[in-house]
Amino acid sequence: MKFLVTGGAGFIGQHVVRELMVRGHEVRVLDSLRPDVHRDLDWRPPSGADFIHADVRDAKALEPALEGVDAVIHLAAKVGLGVDISDTPDYVSSNDFATAELLAAMARTKVGRLTLASSMVAYGEGVGRCEKHGETRPGPRLESAMANGQFDPPCPTCGMPLADLLVTEDVPVDPRNVYATTKVAQEFLAGNWARSTGGAVASMRYHNVYGPGMPRDTPYAGVAAIFLSALRRNEAPRVFEDGRQRRDFIHVRDIAAATVLAAEGHVFGVRAFNVGSGTPRTVGEMAFALARALDGPTPVVTGAFRLGDVRHITADSSRLRAEFHWEPRTTFEDGMRELATGSTGSDPVIKEG
Ligand SMILES: NC(=O)c1ccc[n+]([C@@H]2O[C@H](COP(=O)([O-])OP(=O)(O)OC[C@H]3O[C@@H](n4cnc5c(N)ncnc54)[C@H](O)[C@@H]3O)[C@@H](O)[C@H]2O)c1
Ligand SMILES: [Zn+2]
Repeated sequence: MKFLVTGGAGFIGQHVVRELMVRGHEVRVLDSLRPDVHRDLDWRPPSGADFIHADVRDAKALEPALEGVDAVIHLAAKVGLGVDISDTPDYVSSNDFATAELLAAMARTKVGRLTLASSMVAYGEGVGRCEKHGETRPGPRLESAMANGQFDPPCPTCGMPLADLLVTEDVPVDPRNVYATTKVAQEFLAGNWARSTGGAVASMRYHNVYGPGMPRDTPYAGVAAIFLSALRRNEAPRVFEDGRQRRDFIHVRDIAAATVLAAEGHVFGVRAFNVGSGTPRTVGEMAFALARALDGPTPVVTGAFRLGDVRHITADSSRLRAEFHWEPRTTFEDGMRELATGSTGSDPVIKEG
C-alpha cells in the first residue's frame, strides 16, 4: 500500500515510517519540521521514502501529497506541555485546523482511510472504584490534601480512596487541558468526516511513549529525559509526589507496530484503540530503573506536587490485541536500560534532545 505519514519526521513518525518500509509499503512523509521540535531543518526521510516539506494547514500542498495514496497516518501535531493559555491558538490551529484541512483534502481526493494519533490525555483522570459507590470518575485533588501527602484523588461522593481501574475505550472522554481538548476534537472531526464520506478512521490513544529520540517537553514520558539528565550530571533524580503515580509506559517501536497494523487492517467505520503495554508502572519505579541502569545516585522522592498533574492513568489495550493481534515486545526493564545506556541496537539516531 501507499501511505502518507504526516508528522513523519517526529519522534513517533520516524519509527512508523521505518515500520511501514520494513513491511514493504510505499511511504510519503509530509512534515513542516516545526522549529520548536527540529533543530535540524535538513531532515531527510530514509532512502526510498518521499518527503514533502510542508504544513498540513497548507491546502495547496495536500492534494499533491495525497496523490496515489491509499491511506493516511496523521501524526502531525503540536505536542508540548501546553502550560500557558496563550498557546491555545497555536494548539487549535496546529492540531484541529490542520486536521480539518487534511480531512477536506482527503474528501476531495477520495482517500478514505485514516489512522489518527490520539492520546490517553483524552481520559483526564480516568476511572477508579469506590468500595461503596462502584466505578466512578475521581474527584479533583485538593491542594490541602496534597500538602498533607494525600495524593490519590478520592471518590467524589464519599471522599474515600479509589482502587485503580484500567481505562477502556468506552470511558467517556474528559480532556483537562488545551492540548487534550485539541486531541479529542481531532477524533470528533475525523469521526464526522468518516460518517459523511464513508471513510474509515482508527484513533490510536497512545499512552506514555518512550524510546530513542524521545522529546523532553511533553506530558508523556518527558520525565524520563529529565531523570536521565540528572543522572548524567551524577545528581539524584527528583520524583514528585510520593512517586507512586501510575502510568503505562510503552516503547515507541511497539507504538509504531500498533499504528501500522491498524493502518493496514482498519477498513470500516469509526473506532478508538488504546495503545498501552498493559503493565502499569510508577514514575518512581522509572526513576529507580534508570538509576540502576546507570549505577547512579538513588532517586529522591520529594513530596512536591503540581496542581493539575494527573495522578494515575493506565490503559486497557485488549481491543487492539484482539482485533489486530498486536503484542508489545519491549519490556519495561529492557526499554529503560536501552534509554539509559543508549544501546539502541539497530535504531537510527533520531534527533537530539
Ligand atoms: N509522545 C507521546 O508519548 C504521545 C502520546 C500520545 C499521543 N501522541 C501523539 O502522537 C503524535 C506524534 O507525537 P510525537 O511525540 O512524535 O511528537 P513530535 O513533536 O516529535 O512529532 C510531531 C511532528 O509533526 C510535525 N508537525 C507538527 N505540526 C505540523 C503541521 N501543522 N504540519 C506538518 N507537520 C507538523 C512536527 O514538525 C514533528 O516532526 C502527535 O499527534 C501526538 O499528539 C504522542
Ligand atoms: Zn464512594
